[in-house]
Amino acid sequence: MNEYDFEYLIQEDRVHKSVYTDAHLFDLEMERIFGGTWVYVGHDSQVKNPGDFFCTRIGKNPVVLTRHIDGRVKVLYNRCGHRGAMVVRQETGNAKSFHCCYHDWQFATDGELLSVPLKTGYLPDFDLKDPNKGMKSVARVGSYRGFIFANLRADGPDLEEYLGYVKTSFDDLIDRAPEGDVEVSGGIARHSYRGNWKLYLENLCDGLHPNSVHRSSIEAARGQSDATADDGAGEIAVRQMRQNGAPYAFWQNQVGLWAYPNGHAYLGDFHDDEKLVAAMEDPYFQDYISQMYRSYGENRTKEILAVGRWNTNIYPNVSFMSQFRQLRVIQPISVDRTLVLGFCFRLKGAPEHMFKDTIRFANITNSVGSPVLTDDLETYSRIRLGLETVGEEWISTAREIGRDKPDGNGGWQAANGTSELHIRNGFSTWKRLMKENYDRAG
Ligand code: FES
Repeated sequence: MNEYDFEYLIQEDRVHKSVYTDAHLFDLEMERIFGGTWVYVGHDSQVKNPGDFFCTRIGKNPVVLTRHIDGRVKVLYNRCGHRGAMVVRQETGNAKSFHCCYHDWQFATDGELLSVPLKTGYLPDFDLKDPNKGMKSVARVGSYRGFIFANLRADGPDLEEYLGYVKTSFDDLIDRAPEGDVEVSGGIARHSYRGNWKLYLENLCDGLHPNSVHRSSIEAARGQSDATADDGAGEIAVRQMRQNGAPYAFWQNQVGLWAYPNGHAYLGDFHDDEKLVAAMEDPYFQDYISQMYRSYGENRTKEILAVGRWNTNIYPNVSFMSQFRQLRVIQPISVDRTLVLGFCFRLKGAPEHMFKDTIRFANITNSVGSPVLTDDLETYSRIRLGLETVGEEWISTAREIGRDKPDGNGGWQAANGTSELHIRNGFSTWKRLMKENYDRAG
């Protein structure tokens, strides 16, 4: 039987604090949520050529995303079929085969065991073709327009069904490329924080916090002159931080929030400042826009650039945004420690300064030197500390509850951008997966 009463822990308008603090519940999350649904692992462009690989994790499982010699993308458990050592230690690279450091078993890039030294010492029926001796593949791999997900379970919905309507946020990102494709470019910006993994997703669609959490950077940006611009991108930093300080009425009246089945959500764009995005009239973006006109024509370009979404969360481990081509992967380490990997995407066919814009934005918002990110990390840490107090056991998720409306695309539109709809939606999926994946296993 389930040792937790999930109906009790997750209620309509509140959740029990143990879902952020209980180490055993965290272990169950890794089995039933990260091990029980589709999890983002990487992008096609990270494994462009045969032999390319990228090491990541699905919950607690180290895995390797590889492109085999035949062009197939594989996701392998990073574990040797002999005595279980992790095989690939380098994070990314290109290899003809993988070698275990312990007794030198050698594996093909699709995980098949190729050779073992002193083979006759093993049992007489030892067979190199035995999949249990190789690096095993995860149960399922799926890709949506180059964004690769893996699922440790063989049953359940396929990837497109799982993504549902939020796959249009990937379309939004890809459609902004004049050549209709994007690629990961540059390195990985990492940070970790002392707090639970769910806080990160919750915060990325939280329209109530910027005005208070980011006040110091808002005030610093307000003190800058408009002439801070260097080649245009510096100005964007200042304007971004200023816009975090938009009055509450703006977040309530002009910013939307949408949520979808399986825990996904996105926040509407919160910039009325046309310089922040690829504004149609801004000279900084004119050559990009001209390129888009050549690729798609004026009407379609305007349609593409008019999509106004900020962060899209794909439950449980990735969030991305098209306006500045950022993607963040959440890797839970323990109940109170989380690692985040940040990636930048290049729009294929776009002028080079569009990518510089992407890098500038990453530095301003997603790097450890960011004046914005550090505010958020401090907040996660304070939540962790606050939850250690005894007495009150419940956390409210009730903001704007009961005011959501069907959005016509299978999801719900919140009353406004300060709602906690996305948090309630995430926990509704959390509860379902924690129960359902127990039932399946049982
Ligand atoms: Fe890998 Fe022995 S543990 S070869």
